[in-house]
Amino acid sequence: MFDNHKREINYLRVSVTDRCNLRCIYCMPKEGLSLLGHRDILSYEEFLRIVTIAVNTGIVKVRVTGGEPLVRRGIVEFMASLRKISGLRDISLTTNGILLEKYAEDLFDSGIRRINVSLDSLEPEKYRRITRQGDLTRVINGIKKADRVGFSPIKINVVVIKGFNDDEIIDFAKLTLEKPYQVRFIEYMPVGITALEDGYGHISNDVIMEAINRFTPLDAVGQNGKTDGPARVYKMEGGRGEIGFISAMSHQFCESCNRLRLTADGNLRSCLLIDNEVDLKTPLRNGCTDAELENIIKNVILNKPMHAPIRCHEGQRKKCARTMSSIGG
Ligand code: 5AD
Ligand code: SF4
Repeated sequence: MFDNHKREINYLRVSVTDRCNLRCIYCMPKEGLSLLGHRDILSYEEFLRIVTIAVNTGIVKVRVTGGEPLVRRGIVEFMASLRKISGLRDISLTTNGILLEKYAEDLFDSGIRRINVSLDSLEPEKYRRITRQGDLTRVINGIKKADRVGFSPIKINVVVIKGFNDDEIIDFAKLTLEKPYQVRFIEYMPVGITALEDGYGHISNDVIMEAINRFTPLDAVGQNGKTDGPARVYKMEGGRGEIGFISAMSHQFCESCNRLRLTADGNLRSCLLIDNEVDLKTPLRNGCTDAELENIIKNVILNKPMHAPIRCHEGQRKKCARTMSSIGG
């Protein structure tokens, strides 16, 4: 269905856990976060009920995120159950890849075909620094395994941070020459509490695009860069894969935003950057009917706000009460 700004809302991101086996510098403080207790987190049955009802309001696409979704027990069975919900046309997963080698085959057998892997450095030492503890080899092996078992497309999310990994832009772009991956450069958003200083780290995707263009000309895929959700998509000459640009800071895309987010503790959030959330868990656990739940979701859709641009260069950190790890990106 459409919201009050005439946007069709058909996409739900579901964060199944706020836990993560990494501590990326731009996402979490070093000591980690106070995590939700088991009772606070929705059960898989509860998630499935919400998604089933959300489909009645026009949701056709679901992405499972975290935290890191693969650290939650039973995730493969959950993905398989999602597949059984009629009306859902597209189910995908975003992972940091650490456990991907272990789960790739089972995930594929559960029926999902689309996977996004967050990977911010191709250098082991730097990867460990950015994630504070991650082993790059595991992620690379995970991606290779996902490729072998047949996932397509495999998208690699790269958050580019000035001074950390902006020297690897060409290496990431070159990956698409050999592999059929879509490498997506994501502008860092100063959201929530992280270890990055205010105003630090931002680099515009326009700069990244110019750097790649100087190396090899980029061709727009489709007209003026196929839009793949918020991504503008290109191809390097002779490349097998694609390069996407997600430019939330330099080219805001609120007017075409089609998504809702469901947090692990059962709050429905209609804007990444606005803390207004509607509690679904309490009515759910108090025995509300499907029709009541559907009405709550419809109201959230109708009232989805339009956010004003956030301006990184002014050094403003958007003070969200949550971090990305609990919203699900
Ligand atoms: N800015 C931009 N992207 C972020 N992600 C996490 N935190 C941020 C941030 N502050 C990304 C992750 C992942 C996706 C779900 O969100 O790297 O790829
Ligand atoms: Fe974990 Fe993703 Fe946050 Fe990194 S960005 S700490 S992988 S939730």
